[in-house]
Amino acid sequence: MNTSLSIKNIAVLPGDGIGPEVMQAAIEVLNAVACKAQVKFNYSYGLIGGAAYDKYNNHFPEQTRSICAQNEAILFGSVGGPVKDYLLPKWNNCEANSLLALRQAFNFNINLRKANIFAELAELSPLKNHLVNQGLDIIIFRELLGDIYFGKHVLELSSSPKVASDVATYTEAQIASISHFAFKTARLRKKKLVSVDKANVLATSKLWRLIVQEIAQQYPDVQLQHMLVDNCAMQLIANPGQFDVILTANLFGDILSDELSILSGSLGMMPSASFNADGFALYEPAGGSAPDIAGKNIANPIAQILSAALMLDHSFNLPTEAQLINQAIKKTLISGFRTADLVTANSNCTVVGTKEFTAQVIANL
Ligand code: IPM
Ligand code: MG
Repeated sequence: MNTSLSIKNIAVLPGDGIGPEVMQAAIEVLNAVACKAQVKFNYSYGLIGGAAYDKYNNHFPEQTRSICAQNEAILFGSVGGPVKDYLLPKWNNCEANSLLALRQAFNFNINLRKANIFAELAELSPLKNHLVNQGLDIIIFRELLGDIYFGKHVLELSSSPKVASDVATYTEAQIASISHFAFKTARLRKKKLVSVDKANVLATSKLWRLIVQEIAQQYPDVQLQHMLVDNCAMQLIANPGQFDVILTANLFGDILSDELSILSGSLGMMPSASFNADGFALYEPAGGSAPDIAGKNIANPIAQILSAALMLDHSFNLPTEAQLINQAIKKTLISGFRTADLVTANSNCTVVGTKEFTAQVIANL
């Protein structure tokens, strides 16, 4: 027996829609990597979202919380059902009850999402050619536990007129925690940080700007720029090359990260990691459960596989193995293999299913 084999324990929550099939792809890739490295991955599966509701009448049962607590990292698929069914008990508030509750349960306040353009997929990007050719390498830090997401939500449908309100709150500590993360990351990259807010209108944004500005004093080597969110949404399309690390609040980060993901060609390409102060983390694709294409073996597994690679890098200190996965995906794309979402009219490529694409990635490891 090889005594130097290191064991890594992972909570696996495939969830709903395409979650289970892209998760299967990621697990197969992890197993193939384990064979090459001196590691063994132990997986503990848990139910979440609609899948958990079927068994427990609960979108985030205690059993699942405890599986997460007992492992070293969480690999998450996606949750949620078809939009037309959102009033069925199985899907009503499913995302909030599962994913948001999970973020809260483990204090995952820091969300990191990465956008890169694979040269092979350049033609899929909605950006102009000259911008695509400049390349794209952006990290966005999104605060995950404050803002309008977690304030009081009121929906008065029986009053006349009907009214609704959502309260946005930020504390100094919440802003400071993610700011330090973003500055530290910027320091290791191009030493440029853009903090995005709506300080010309919102009180939470005024506080955001103040705290970020104060913390910047501790990172004099990082050049800080404040940008209003509406301007940022526009600049990301007009001149994405100016961005390296972006720092922003929960709701703005939700919206801007979707915009960023499509710049790379498909929502199915963007991995994401959510950390707490102790470094415990959850890894998930930024895209959703895509129930319309679930179970058809056509989903793009790249974001889920890249999320597993992020886990190797950040939770298990296996950067070489993470890089191996990135390279294998790149090679697979260079060889012309594509899932259906990555095909355009003029691309000369081989369209394959989720399983076949994954097999190619593994062959290229
Ligand atoms: C995301 C998602 C979630 C969010 C939804 C599913 C609640 O859009 O992770 O970006 O808004 O945070
Ligand atoms: Mg989102």
